[in-house]
Amino acid sequence: MANRSCLLYAFLLLVALQSSMIMANTVIHTPQCRPVAASSKDKILFSMNLLIYKAEFFLRASVGVGINGISPGLVQGPVPIGATLANITNSARRVIEELGLATVGHLRAIVNVTLLRAPLPRPQLNFTAGVFANILNLSALTPPFNVYGGQTQFFLVAEPLTSLIQYYLAQVIPSIAGIPQQQLVTGIGLNAAAQHGYFRTRLNAIVNITVPPYTITVASFTNTTATAVNLLDCAPRTELPPTSYRVMSIPYHPDRTERETLRILHGTGNATRPGGIFPSGPNGTLYRLVIVPLRLS
Ligand SMILES: *[C@@H]1O[C@H](CO)[C@@H](O)[C@H](O)[C@H]1NC(C)=O
Ligand SMILES: *[C@@H]1O[C@H](CO)[C@@H](O)[C@H](O)[C@H]1NC(C)=O
Ligand SMILES: *[C@@H]1O[C@H](CO)[C@@H](O)[C@H](O)[C@H]1NC(C)=O
Ligand SMILES: *[C@@H]1O[C@H](CO)[C@@H](O)[C@H](O)[C@H]1NC(C)=O
Ligand SMILES: *[C@@H]1O[C@H](CO)[C@@H](O)[C@H](O)[C@H]1NC(C)=O
Ligand SMILES: *[C@@H]1O[C@H](CO)[C@@H](O)[C@H](O)[C@H]1NC(C)=O
Ligand SMILES: *[C@@H]1O[C@H](CO)[C@@H](O)[C@H](O)[C@H]1NC(C)=O
Ligand SMILES: *[C@@H]1O[C@H](CO)[C@@H](O)[C@H](O)[C@H]1NC(C)=O
Repeated sequence: MANRSCLLYAFLLLVALQSSMIMANTVIHTPQCRPVAASSKDKILFSMNLLIYKAEFFLRASVGVGINGISPGLVQGPVPIGATLANITNSARRVIEELGLATVGHLRAIVNVTLLRAPLPRPQLNFTAGVFANILNLSALTPPFNVYGGQTQFFLVAEPLTSLIQYYLAQVIPSIAGIPQQQLVTGIGLNAAAQHGYFRTRLNAIVNITVPPYTITVASFTNTTATAVNLLDCAPRTELPPTSYRVMSIPYHPDRTERETLRILHGTGNATRPGGIFPSGPNGTLYRLVIVPLRLS
């Protein structure tokens, strides 16, 4: 067990080091997508919403327990809707569990460094299979696309979801004030990049294989999901399907603002109209700044 963890983390670290995801791009944003002028603490608290959804999703899909089942009293709020165990191999289950546990560790570290008091506010989360199918434009399939139905289906969802967190943190890291806070968010960002790399690598290895029960290849699926994410995001952007470039050869690291991230997670293409994974929106001051009417000057 210890050996397996060491190997996994050695692998994840390797992927992270090969990525230079910390470099933020300079992009001109429209008002609907521009970064929110918020304090470092509020940005960290916004990230916390993303980490809570990732930890809840991975833990519930792999071992059927939530964050509080691992770390009692760490979060408080409505119970996520629609989570269920995913039909994946035992070895994948252990990896997904580890990624969830690592994320719980990051939530604890946030509590420690920001001197927040647990329980952290957990937003309402909707993990119903249809939510992921809608966000990724896979809802027209027969049978309906079910993230929990098979391992490749799970990876096809986990890949873009982990990339979202990586790209948001890449955007926010340069603006975080305070050395412990910078170190904290950078560490979480590196780990997010490594987790994304894990799913990308797994999908790359099976890029030409069809995804049961469909006759559609992984390449074609990732093409659809990347296009869907692109369209929810602020165009024009060139989200490449994870299988269209070789891992570790082309550095491809976009960054995303809070608003861009929400347009995707809400599944509405609108940061101020909640839905999708966050039916009531995320918690915290930063989101309240997002939903105040935009001044277009
Ligand atoms: C909490 O933070 C302090 C420094 O701020 C650090 O020394 C300690 O290891 C941290 N504990 C945990 C559990 O992260
Ligand atoms: C967080 O959001 C949920 C709804 O998503 C709400 O029920 C809860 O009260 C909020 N918590 C705080 C502290 O704002
Ligand atoms: C959760 O998502 C499902 C599928 O999209 C939807 O039918 C349901 O209304 C959502 N629940 C909430 C509380 O948003
Ligand atoms: C679980 O996945 C396996 C392997 O992909 C598949 O053969 C089986 O039909 C799936 N079970 C369910 C209940 O979907
Ligand atoms: C997938 O198919 C393409 C085109 O036939 C080929 O170039 C590529 O090496 C294949 N990739 C894998 C991982 O099998
Ligand atoms: C990906 O989508 C584009 C545009 O819809 C299409 O031209 C291309 O052939 C697709 N590639 C694959 C592998 O499906
Ligand atoms: C969604 O996918 C369908 C194919 O299933 C495609 O025809 C359509 O253009 C896609 N829509 C978007 C917005 O990507
Ligand atoms: C986004 O959603 C808000 C709240 O529902 C709405 O007032 C606004 O018109 C929407 N914006 C667009 C561009 O659809």
